[in-house]
Amino acid sequence: MSKFWSDVVHQLTPYVPGEQPKLSNLVKLNTNENPYGPSPKVIEALKLEAADSLRLYPDPNSDKLKAAIAENFGLQMSQVFVGNGSDEVLAHVFQALLKHEKPLLFPDISYSFYPVYCGLYGIKYETIALDKQFKIDIHDYARPNGGIIFPNPNAPTGIPLALAEIEKLLRQNTHSVVVIDEAYVDFGTESAVKLINMYPNLLVTHTLSKARSLAGLRVGYALGNKDLIEALMRVKDSFNSYPIDRFAEAGAVAAMQDSDYFEQTCAKVIATRQALVNDLKTLNFDSMPSGANFIFTKHRTVDGSILAEKLREHNIIVRHFKKPSRVAPYLRITIGTDAQSIALIHALKLILNTH
Ligand SMILES: Cc1ncc(COP(=O)(O)O)c(C=O)c1O
Repeated sequence: MSKFWSDVVHQLTPYVPGEQPKLSNLVKLNTNENPYGPSPKVIEALKLEAADSLRLYPDPNSDKLKAAIAENFGLQMSQVFVGNGSDEVLAHVFQALLKHEKPLLFPDISYSFYPVYCGLYGIKYETIALDKQFKIDIHDYARPNGGIIFPNPNAPTGIPLALAEIEKLLRQNTHSVVVIDEAYVDFGTESAVKLINMYPNLLVTHTLSKARSLAGLRVGYALGNKDLIEALMRVKDSFNSYPIDRFAEAGAVAAMQDSDYFEQTCAKVIATRQALVNDLKTLNFDSMPSGANFIFTKHRTVDGSILAEKLREHNIIVRHFKKPSRVAPYLRITIGTDAQSIALIHALKLILNTH
């Protein structure tokens, strides 16, 4: 505690990201990265960018990237906002669109950064309990609110919410912004982007960190009505004029344009997920239905914290959340390569045999 700190800093409880270990021989299944590298076209674009032009600032509006994203979704550039990872985009969303008299609503089990942004920006919020099957029930959100946000598929459960439910929510909730955080949507969940032209209060956020294999480049974006985007631009231009550097823009444009590579890697991850869920079942694990590049799974008798600890001894890292208590028995396991799944199953068999 320093006497030099601003008042707000004393109150902050910062987000704790999953471990990024310095060891290289680990099977790293803890932060939902893609096991496959980015498209070779991204690498080419990055090499070309390593040039004298780096002495110049990048385009503050990232027009090339906005154009590539708009083209991908059949939207106007004025409906696209880009930022340094979807975490930064979300930070601006919280400040620009979700700070009101009435409380922001989000699920009790959800992306743990949401309450952190509320703390940073002084936003009132209420959490809404997931139902008994850990699902979002949109009827629970029919109450006074200054905004609604949740991931679809939800994190860390991975459970997708049907598009028809999201549309019902938008019909029931017309007076505040509904943000659907689609960080994991490309792994088998239906996107709400197609509703954007019908609902002026819908904002959808995406990231290039997962399905486009670019967690290291830090690019995310939001799609929505141009008035919502203008609010985000105002906050961004009051914060950092150049969130997307020259490498980030060049790499992200190439990634958005290589649909074939993107579809192939997503299909591989989905196939590996299905095989892993089946293999885990034979070891007495029950997994939640996943539309993401991770699964949330629990062993019938052995607790998640014990399994996470033992897996670490086998050089395999997965994510375990202690809170809330309803999720404590579970492990969140990122989908890796088939070889990584085999290593995981092998280690789990050894652990369960000796437990
Ligand atoms: C639900 C959800 N939203 C957003 C993000 C942020 O992703 P990034 O900042 O890498 O774009 C994550 C990262 O894990 C996430 O799980």
